[in-house]
Amino acid sequence: MKLEVITIFPDYFAPLRLSLIGKALDDGLVRLLVRDLRDFTHDRHRTTDDTPCGGGAGMVMKPEPWGEALDAVLAEVPGGPPPTLVLTTPAGEPFRQRVAEELSRLDHLVFACGRYEGIDARVPAWAATRMPVRELSLGDYVLNGGEVAALAMIEAIVRLIPGVLGNPASLVEESHADGLLEYPVYTKPPSWRGLDVPEVLLSGHHGQVAAWRRAQAEALTARRRPDLLPG
Ligand code: ADE
Repeated sequence: MKLEVITIFPDYFAPLRLSLIGKALDDGLVRLLVRDLRDFTHDRHRTTDDTPCGGGAGMVMKPEPWGEALDAVLAEVPGGPPPTLVLTTPAGEPFRQRVAEELSRLDHLVFACGRYEGIDARVPAWAATRMPVRELSLGDYVLNGGEVAALAMIEAIVRLIPGVLGNPASLVEESHADGLLEYPVYTKPPSWRGLDVPEVLLSGHHGQVAAWRRAQAEALTARRRPDLLPG
C-alpha cells in the first residue's frame, strides 16, 4: 500500500516509523510519503488559511495550496487508477472497524489533514471529480486538527494489511472484529493479589472456554456499548 499524508505539521507522523507500523514500512509492505502543505504556497509567509466568507470565528484553509498538493499527488499516477482521498474532519462519517477493513484493501490512500475551522468546501467537491473521496471522523469530539485522527486511522488500517501483524489470528477475536467488544483476557499466574483467573480458562476444555468468552463478550457489550447490539 502507498500512503500519503498532506499536512502543515509533517512532524506529527514521525511516530509511524516506530513499532509494528514502522516494521511494515521497513519491510516494504507500506510506503509512506508525507507532504508539507506549505510547500504548495507561494507567498513569503507560506499562508494556508484565511478568514471565512460570510464571517464568523476562526480561519478556513485556502483551496489553492490543497489544489496544488492534490495535483502533485495525481501527477505521480498519470493515467493510472487514482488514489482514495481521506479527509479527516469532525463532520465526517464515523471511522469504524468496517471502514478500516475496506480501506486496508486499497492500494493507494491520501490523507488530507485539515486545521482550524476546516478546509474550503470546494476542495472535496473538486477532488471528487478526480478520485474517490471519504470524509471521515475519528469520533464525536473536536481535535485541534486532523493529524491525530489520521495517525489513528492509519494505524487501524495498516495493522489489517496481510503480513503486518506477526499473528494474524489475533485480528479474528479482538474487539469490533465480530461486532462485539472483546472478552476479558488473563495470563499467568493463576492467582494474583487474591484475584483468581476464572476456573474455566484453566480447564483445558476448548468448547467451554469458547462459550464462556462469547457470553462475556455479549455481557460486556450489553453493559458498555448496547448500541452495538442488534436492536
Ligand atoms: N479534526 C478535528 N476533529 C476531528 C475528528 N474528531 N475526527 C477527524 N478529524 C478531526
